[in-house]
Amino acid sequence: MTNRNLCFLLILLGLHLTCVFSWKKDEFRNCNQTPFCKRARARKPGSCSLVAHGVSISDGELTAKLISKIQENQEDESQIKPLILTLSVYQDGIMRLKIDEDPSLDPPKKRFEVPDVIVPEFPSKKIWLPRLSTETIGGDAGPSSFVYLSDGYVAVIRHDPFEVYVRDKAGKRVVSLNSHGLFDFEQLRQKKEGDDWEERFKGHTDTRPYGPQSISFDVTFYEADFVYGIPEHATSLALKPTRGPGVEESEPYRLFNLDVFEYIHDSPFGIYGSIPFMISHGNSRGTSGFFWLNAAEMQIDVLDYGWDAESGISLPSSQSRIDTFWMSEAGIVDAFFFVGPEPKDVIRQYTSVTGTPAMPQLFSIAYHQCRWNYRDEEDVENVDSKFDEHDIPYDVLWLDIEHTDGKKYFTWDRVLFPHPEEMQRKIAAKGRRMVTIVDPHIKRDESFPLHREATQKGYYVKDATGNDYDGWCWPGSSSYLDMLNPEIRSWWAEKFSLQNYVGSTPSLYIWNDMNEPSVFNGPEVTMPRDSLHYGGVEHRELHNTYGYYFHMATADGLVKRGNGKDRPFVLSRAVFAGTQRYGAVWTGDNSADWDHLRASIPMVLTLGLTGISFSGADVGGFFGNTEPDLLVRWYQVGAYYPFFRGHAHHDTKRREPWLFGERNTELIRDAIHVRYSLLPYFYTLFREANTSGVPVMRPLWMEFPFEEATFSNDEAFMVGNSLLVQGIYTEQAKHASIYLPGKESWYDLITGAAYKGGMTHKMEVSEESIPAFQRAGTIVPRKDRFRRSSTQMANDPYTLVIALNSSQAAEGEIYIDDGKSYEFQKGAYIHRQFVFSNGKLTSSNLASVPSSDTQYPLDAVVERIILLGHASDPKSALIESIKPEC
Ligand SMILES: *[C@@H]1O[C@H](CO)[C@@H](O)[C@H](O)[C@H]1NC(C)=O
Ligand SMILES: *[C@@H]1O[C@H](CO)[C@@H](O)[C@H](O)[C@H]1NC(C)=O
Repeated sequence: MTNRNLCFLLILLGLHLTCVFSWKKDEFRNCNQTPFCKRARARKPGSCSLVAHGVSISDGELTAKLISKIQENQEDESQIKPLILTLSVYQDGIMRLKIDEDPSLDPPKKRFEVPDVIVPEFPSKKIWLPRLSTETIGGDAGPSSFVYLSDGYVAVIRHDPFEVYVRDKAGKRVVSLNSHGLFDFEQLRQKKEGDDWEERFKGHTDTRPYGPQSISFDVTFYEADFVYGIPEHATSLALKPTRGPGVEESEPYRLFNLDVFEYIHDSPFGIYGSIPFMISHGNSRGTSGFFWLNAAEMQIDVLDYGWDAESGISLPSSQSRIDTFWMSEAGIVDAFFFVGPEPKDVIRQYTSVTGTPAMPQLFSIAYHQCRWNYRDEEDVENVDSKFDEHDIPYDVLWLDIEHTDGKKYFTWDRVLFPHPEEMQRKIAAKGRRMVTIVDPHIKRDESFPLHREATQKGYYVKDATGNDYDGWCWPGSSSYLDMLNPEIRSWWAEKFSLQNYVGSTPSLYIWNDMNEPSVFNGPEVTMPRDSLHYGGVEHRELHNTYGYYFHMATADGLVKRGNGKDRPFVLSRAVFAGTQRYGAVWTGDNSADWDHLRASIPMVLTLGLTGISFSGADVGGFFGNTEPDLLVRWYQVGAYYPFFRGHAHHDTKRREPWLFGERNTELIRDAIHVRYSLLPYFYTLFREANTSGVPVMRPLWMEFPFEEATFSNDEAFMVGNSLLVQGIYTEQAKHASIYLPGKESWYDLITGAAYKGGMTHKMEVSEESIPAFQRAGTIVPRKDRFRRSSTQMANDPYTLVIALNSSQAAEGEIYIDDGKSYEFQKGAYIHRQFVFSNGKLTSSNLASVPSSDTQYPLDAVVERIILLGHASDPKSALIESIKPEC
């Protein structure tokens, strides 16, 4: 949840006004009000004067110095010192480019290099570069140096003017940097008299003691029809151009984690998360990617037709392409180029750098019920039993900030929640869990032990003058832990032990909200950029990772609480590259309107493309009252979000599923049942994401990379490779146009009716469900008995839905483990493939471990097989083996 200063003040004054204001653009900076962005955007193509000197191989990496040509001629040393460039190559088609100041030239400060995001295994995948070849290619003034990447891909550095790119076997470019000469690196320097480095915005002053230090450059994606990624924005899946000839100039895509009150649904504006990873996709070449590991504020322009018309620079090839322009306030260049060429290759390459998603507990992929707030124990008990009364399964009940004593996390309001342990045990007895909120702002209250301890130990982030930073948030005056420091993270993690978190039980899990961090009275509702962290790092340098570290430390706390036995569940609002290793995220404070329902699809798809598979939007919309029609449609789509939670603001009317009349209760129950019956399929997909990075919910083009009709489709999506779902985003819709890709048929999930692929169907839609189809040639595992919660389904039998293709064949998989521990990493799981062909269904072991007694023991059987698309009605079935031998 969030607030606005004004509302906050009014409440302080005792005026009970409802905050009904919408997004206030003026509270946030635009590019023109952000000096580094304004300067960068004003630069002209070709203005970079850097040349690569002394290109050579050392320690298995390519190294060079970037020297200014102007300086070379004029011998003016005052301006630009040489920069150090290193280029390294990793297995599986990954190139890494680093550019930083030369430490031997004594820069005033070491620039911040983001730690803890690249997985520890990654460096071992480095390929030792043996040698370099250098030659001059046609039309260039100077030579280029080449190193081999993989599969015929070559990394190239052109010396003059300096440019870096990857090209494929055929010599065609894939991704390049500085092809348009926009590279700029503001080096740190000593302040001279008369230098005014301060920046002011809305009554806040940023002292900027180190002065300008921004970096910007152009990146070009070749043979690309569209670019995607760089969440988090509430915008389309295929990124719209922000400038360039023929484009109405808009703000660049901003990556700056912010608590934006009532964000609007079609905007490049920065919200809670930042993942500086972009993917391009096109029909002729396929997919490639570019990731800039940098945690400072970033702004990114997308140009539709390129810079040419403006600059007259023409690239050495006539390939079609998309130009982009990246600007960051601080940090270094640490950039990764991914060659693809298939969509799933790029995701695999990216997640080999930042990690694949954690394997969640099974309960956490079922349905969650949340509200700001479930008032007291009686309310909790009542909501819980109403689910049973109405025969609606759910797994988790959530408590928002009001459950605490004065917004001091890890405490309980003892009047409203006098018996928290007993309450959790009652819920747990039905196989359900609870979640409480734990935010990063710590109430500055001398009677609060956590605050006293953090103060004594010096664990808070410091303001620019070196005192504990003090900002306003829910509890009033608050301070923020310096999560960059590993010692503080580990201290924080201890706070989740059952002993330390009084009133908690092993069935309690955690929600991290407001971790951008949100500071109601701070500049742009966050922490001042000149605040100081561990090791003298300025907040501006690490801002976008603050919430990431908080999420990491909290997840670690839950692992420690269970002595490393149980997988954690922590939901976070702030997001950075690598968040997928720590838990789930949601798209923040959306609104109860059709546009937000519609926008949730590209938002969740984009997070998935950038590694974060476990995400969802608040079902029903957080702000505002939801009309029953919208609520039902939202449940029907939400049942397919990887993270499925209903949530609402405290000013809204209650909206538990049974409050809108019998018919709507029935429709919502049906939607939630769809999710529960597909849990075996979803869990299998979560395991696929865990091993390969490929997201649970995918854009159509990930499965159909050569079908142009799918490239900008963000109304429909795939769940795994087998299901296609199309949301209904308008009131009272009677029809929908649905494009079904591929050459094979699709089977309606409810009726089993077959539809031809490769065309758009105009279909009637009913209120009962949204259009969803199973692809011919696939097998989907389900569990069709409805229980109170996923836990109670553990031993239920399976149904296999076999959708035959034109060769009367199909295949699918199932992954099963205990749903909660890490035993699967020791081989305690079942992973089987089902193949149907020649009228026969067979199953074989896919587990990488040899079958043994460590195999997860399971009694469940397949009780039913549904065959779709069989040419003739089967006359008989012969069962050869009931229990598959391993
Ligand atoms: C899968 O998830 C587990 C548990 O979260 C994690 O430790 C592991 O690194 C993930 N990736 C793979 C490939 O198992
Ligand atoms: C039908 O499905 C089987 C199993 O997935 C696959 O091997 C085969 O290529 C498919 N046939 C066609 C025509 O797509």
